[in-house]
Order: sequence, then C-alpha cells, then structure tokens
Amino acid sequence: MSRIAFVNGQYCDYSDALIHVDDRGYQFADGVYEVFTIIDSCIIDFQPHLKRLFRSLSELKIVTPIKKSAYLYHIRNIIKKNMIVTGTVYLQVTRGVAKRDFKYPKDIKSSITIIGKVISEDTFYKDIYNGINVKTTKDLRWKRCDIKSLNLLPPVLAKQHAYENNSKEAWLIDDAGFITEGSSSTAWILDKNDVLRTSSLKNNILPGITRETFLKGLCKYKIKFKETSFNIKDIRSAKEAFITSATTFVTPVNMVDNIKIGNGKPGKFAPIFLDIYKKAIKSKI
Ligand code: PDD
Repeated sequence: MSRIAFVNGQYCDYSDALIHVDDRGYQFADGVYEVFTIIDSCIIDFQPHLKRLFRSLSELKIVTPIKKSAYLYHIRNIIKKNMIVTGTVYLQVTRGVAKRDFKYPKDIKSSITIIGKVISEDTFYKDIYNGINVKTTKDLRWKRCDIKSLNLLPPVLAKQHAYENNSKEAWLIDDAGFITEGSSSTAWILDKNDVLRTSSLKNNILPGITRETFLKGLCKYKIKFKETSFNIKDIRSAKEAFITSATTFVTPVNMVDNIKIGNGKPGKFAPIFLDIYKKAIKSKI
C-alpha cells in the first residue's frame, strides 16, 4: 500500500510529496507542529491539540493556511487513505515560501503538511507496559518551549544521546539542576512522600495535552499531586517515575542514568495511572 500525504491542498503519494527549497520551515525551522495519536482509527484529544496548534501559530504570528474547521477533515482523510487503525498523524505548518531572508514578507502564504504512520498495537504498547530507561542531559533549548515549534535541534541531540546510552528518553536539566521535561515528553515522579510531581507550566516547558488529560482524570482519585519540579536527589528517592506524551500515554521509567527507580521495573501505580489516563480520554473522534 502506498502512503499518502497532504501537502498544501493536495493529496499525493509520498514520492510526489515535495517541499520548496525556500520553505522557511526547511531553512529556519520557522513553523509549528502537532502529533496526534490514532487509536481504533479515532483521533485522541483532537480539540486540545488543535487549540495548542492555534496558540503556537498565534505566538509566532503565522496565519493558518486552512480554515480551523478543515483540520479535522484533512486529518481524517489521512487516517482513511493510509488505513491507520493504531498510529500517529503528524501535522506541520510553516510560515511558507520566501527567498531566504531572516525577516519575512507580509503577504507570505503559510504551508501545511499532514502525514500519517501506522504502528502495530504491540509496538505502540510495548514501552507503555515494560517501561523505559531515561538519560539526563543539559537543557539547551530556547526560552519559548511552550510553543510547539519546529526548532528541535536540542531535543534531537538529547534524544540521540539517550539512545546511545541505552535509554529511550532524555530528561533535560536546567541551570538550577531541576528537570524541566523530556526531550519529547512530560517528566513525572512519585516522590518518597507519595506525591506525584511534574513541573509547573511556564515558558520553559510544553503544556502537554496528555499531562492535561491525565490530570483531569487524576483529580477524581485520592492521589496527592504537586506542580513542582524535581532534581536528581528527588529522583534517587522516588518510588516511581513516568513520562507522558501523545505517543507514549503514561509510560513508566525504570532507570534514570544509573539510578534504579523502585526495583527497576514498572511499579504498582503504572497500570493505575495508565488506566486513569485512558478513562480520562473523552474525545476520541
Ligand atoms: N512531543 N514536552 C515536549 C518537549 C514534547 O515534545 C512533547 C510531545 C510533550 C508532550 O506533549 P503531548 O502530551 O501533548 O504529546 C512534552 C511529541 C509527541 C513529539 O514531538 O513527537
């Protein structure tokens, strides 16, 4: 089966899905993106992802290339055309094409690309059930990480560093020694006092949609939660640790660097938190 992409108003085969060399996304990472998870051919949390996309666009003063109401239609088409049951849809909007210049013309027309990926159910849930290792590294990103921009070189290097150290995710450490978040996920610990902790939402982290949905579900339970960041010392004494993102749901962390979390296997809260998250997903459309 051939893969079909949506590029600037056209559905086309992957081999014909071409981007102009002067696209500012290509030259300046001047654009934003969203990753949607697809389960049973439905989009998880479509509305909050769309809302965040529009916030990212507005923060960078990029005009949407299509009407807000058309996003759902095109994402659904990509799901159908690529026969995605379990998988992801990646959507990117760039400022558009203009002769290379740091400043951009007023009348520039933004570009849109939507692509889909089929993932087997087993692959999707493998790390979610078994847990992952995490490697810490310096947070080298810019000061507007709340915008889901294409400016991804620091997380690329961080994730590569993690993989080269037998880890699936990198946790980024700020100048004060605190974990901001993962290279592509939100970071959590269940600390020694049974308090679930993750960083508060400031400009130095992305406001995760999975974080938001999970917290909505969590408030119905008697689990203590504090929006406060943690450092290596807290990790050393943590009972459990997790990452959350659209593509990892709530995934337990078994090791951080050479620190074993609990007994180095998913703890008792891992299936509970996964269940809380799954039940909190209301909008599967
Ligand atoms: N990443 N923090 C960062 C830096 C991220 O890149 C992501 C998502 C998250 C979690 O956000 P959400 O729960 O909305 O997926 C947190 C996606 C999956 C990616 O870049 O592939």
